[in-house]
Parts: sequence; structure tokens; C-alpha cells
Amino acid sequence: MDSESGDIICKQMSPDTTGGGGGHQLNPNQNRYFSGHLLRAVLLFTMVTLTCLVLYQPSATPFQLLPQSIYSFSFHHANNISTKAGNGELGLKQVLKRAAMTDKTVIITTLNEAWIEPDSIFDLFLESFRIGNQTLWLLKHLVVVAMDQSAFNHCLGLHLNCYFLKTEDVDFSGEAHFMTPGYLKMMWRRIDFLRTVLEMGFNFVFTDADIMWFRNPFPHFYSDTDFQISCDSYRGNPSDLNNAPNGGFNYVKSSNQTIEFYKFWYQSRESYPRKHDQDVLNKIKYDPFIREIIGLEIKFLDTVYFGGFCSPSKDLNLVCTMHANCCAGLDNKIHDLKILLDDWRKYLSLPENARKSQPPSWSVPQSCGPASFRRHTPRKRNGGTRK
Ligand SMILES: *[C@@H]1O[C@H](CO)[C@@H](O)[C@H](O)[C@H]1NC(C)=O
Ligand SMILES: *[C@@H]1O[C@H](CO)[C@@H](O)[C@H](O)[C@H]1NC(C)=O
Ligand SMILES: *[C@@H]1O[C@H](CO)[C@@H](O)[C@H](O)[C@H]1NC(C)=O
Repeated sequence: MDSESGDIICKQMSPDTTGGGGGHQLNPNQNRYFSGHLLRAVLLFTMVTLTCLVLYQPSATPFQLLPQSIYSFSFHHANNISTKAGNGELGLKQVLKRAAMTDKTVIITTLNEAWIEPDSIFDLFLESFRIGNQTLWLLKHLVVVAMDQSAFNHCLGLHLNCYFLKTEDVDFSGEAHFMTPGYLKMMWRRIDFLRTVLEMGFNFVFTDADIMWFRNPFPHFYSDTDFQISCDSYRGNPSDLNNAPNGGFNYVKSSNQTIEFYKFWYQSRESYPRKHDQDVLNKIKYDPFIREIIGLEIKFLDTVYFGGFCSPSKDLNLVCTMHANCCAGLDNKIHDLKILLDDWRKYLSLPENARKSQPPSWSVPQSCGPASFRRHTPRKRNGGTRK
């Protein structure tokens, strides 16, 4: 999942450089735009500090436009369960059960305060399910894992399946936690959390919220592996370990192999201190332990179906998801994601024969892309720099 991200910071206010649902967007090529971790840390810290000043204003939700039936997806007991210390596991199981498809599969995303502002990434994420081709039904299988109280309350207000993932010993009320032990602990908390989901017998699609869903991805998953992951760049062979994985989107089936793999991944943080989970995955993917001892084959998803601003899914007749990866700056990200959704709407409005014979392509990235790493400036108070 996330790598560099400022994701979890300060209620995750920094989807920015790092990205939003994580920092899943940097592919190795983009890294040269930074002069290293220090610069990145300073940049992020600055952005985080600034973005934390942004005021939260409750907004209209996309669900106001939806039929009443969507409201039945709400998780009524969330408050009760989630606020009871020591009862988290029970709560989680109930949320998962409620959200799961008949084969015990759920869709999981994480949410933090930064992503719930009006006109936010999370609104766009939900919007994509509404305008995607037959994707609305997937929302009732979505579990929103809230990383802070505001995000949790927001989720409950939207009548989604919500779970509050608390991290003991880490106080997220301030912004000073980026790259501290507490911050990294939180990042890794997700990997540990997803292992728990697998241990409870649930399969999941993990998706960052800056990934737009346009088509049902399930028909495009491989049936012969229990762990598959999207890519910043895809080399043409799903088994090629040199593919650059992006932890923002993966499909994992519950099995002894995947449970062991998540334990191994989590433990590997000790071998690579001060690295995020995606960076560590990029190292351990070559470890023969995974294939030979655990018996798991990692497979990589084709960007034709699961694309992003690093490598767009150019054929709109085929695209399932598009990730705002390779993008610095929350405002840049929102700007381009809005255009992305507009492109999709235009595509849908074309007559079927035009869609088939001359499908249009995306008009993004514009603000995103490698250049965004050079010209990015942190957003101003009250979102003044928003486009
Ligand atoms: C909370 O939920 C549990 C089980 O879901 C139930 O047994 C308990 O009575 C509830 N507590 C409150 C205070 O509602
Ligand atoms: C949407 O899905 C339906 C059913 O699978 C299909 O017939 C239709 O062509 C799809 N439309 C687009 C734009 O992909
Ligand atoms: C793990 O393996 C045991 C037997 O070795 C089996 O009974 C169990 O169902 C497996 N669990 C999963 C989640 O596949």
C-alpha cells in the first residue's frame, strides 16, 4: 500500500505528493525527481503542516443523488462496536460479514480527514462507482476503514460500511508525526490489519480512494493466484517480478499462503527500517521464500485494465480502474481526476458504434504526471489553490 506517502499523517492530510490513498504513486522513474528522502520529508512536512490548517466543512454528499435503496447499506452498529475498546475484532468481523459478497469478498479502502473535505478525492471515488458501467452495486461491498474520528463520522453519515481502525499508542491529533516511529507504525498497521481480514477468512480488493472504478474488475483477475497487484508500469508478463507494483490496488484471496505472506511482509519492515510497505514489497518480491517456502506466486495486473497516470489504460472500451498515481499535490490530483470523470462521461454519451469504432482517449494527465513533482506547491489555507 503506501509507500512514501504522507498518507497517514495528520489525519492524512497529505495525499499530496504521496498520494492519496497512499503514496502509491511514485514509480521508480519518478523518484529521480526528488533528491532523496530528506527533501521528500521536508516537502511533505511542509504540506502537511499547511494542509492541516485547512478547515473541514461538511459537504453535500454524492449519495443525496442516489436512490433511497442505497441507504440500506449502512452499518448501524458501527458506533457501538468501534467505540468499545477491546471489542475491535468482533466489530470488524461484523462489518466484513455485512459487506461481503457471497464468496466472502469485500472491497476495502482507507479514509482520513484530508480526503473528506467538500469536493474531495473521496467524493470523486464514490462518484466513479455511480457513473461507472454497472459498478454501483459494488459500493455495498465496500468497507471504509477510517483512520481517524472525523473520517469515521463522515463515513457513517454516508451510510457506508465503516470500520474505525484505531492504533494504540499513536496520537494522530497533531501533524508532527510524519516519519516518526508512530507514523511508520501507522503505515504498517494497515498491512497488519489486512492480514487480520485474511485470517477471518475474507478475500479483499484493496483500493486507494484516488482510484476511479469504471468497470467491474473481477472478470479481469487471474484465477490461478491468491495475490495480485496493480502496476505503475507493466512489462507484459503477469509473472515478471520486475514489474513495478503499486500497492494502491490489489486483490488478495484468503489462504494459508496469503496469511503467511502478509506476516512475512509485515516482519520485513524490521529488515528495512524507515521504509513504507510498498518500498519493502518492491524488495521482498524477489525473495525465494515467498515462492518456495510459502508457495505463493505474486501476479501483476495489466495496466490495460488497471491503469493510472503513470501508464494510462488507453482503451476506454477496456479500462476498469484509473489511479491518480504519478501525481504530486492533492490539488493537481483532484483537478485531473475531475477531468478523468468528465472524459468518461463524454465517452458514455457517445453512440455505441462511435464508442466501439473510434473510442476517445483521456485528456489527462494535465496537472499530474512527472512535471507535477517539479512545479507542485502546497495548497493554501482554505483550499485557496484549488482549481
Ligand atoms: C453493542 O453491540 C453488541 C453486539 O453487537 C450488543 O451485545 C451490545 O448490547 C451493544 N451495546 C450497546 C451499548 O448498544
Ligand atoms: C456496460 O455493460 C454492459 C453489460 O456488460 C455492456 O453490454 C455494455 O456494452 C457496457 N457499456 C460500456 C460503455 O462498456
Ligand atoms: C490452512 O491449511 C489447513 C491445513 O493445513 C487447512 O485446514 C485450512 O483450511 C487452511 N486455511 C486456509 C485459510 O486456507
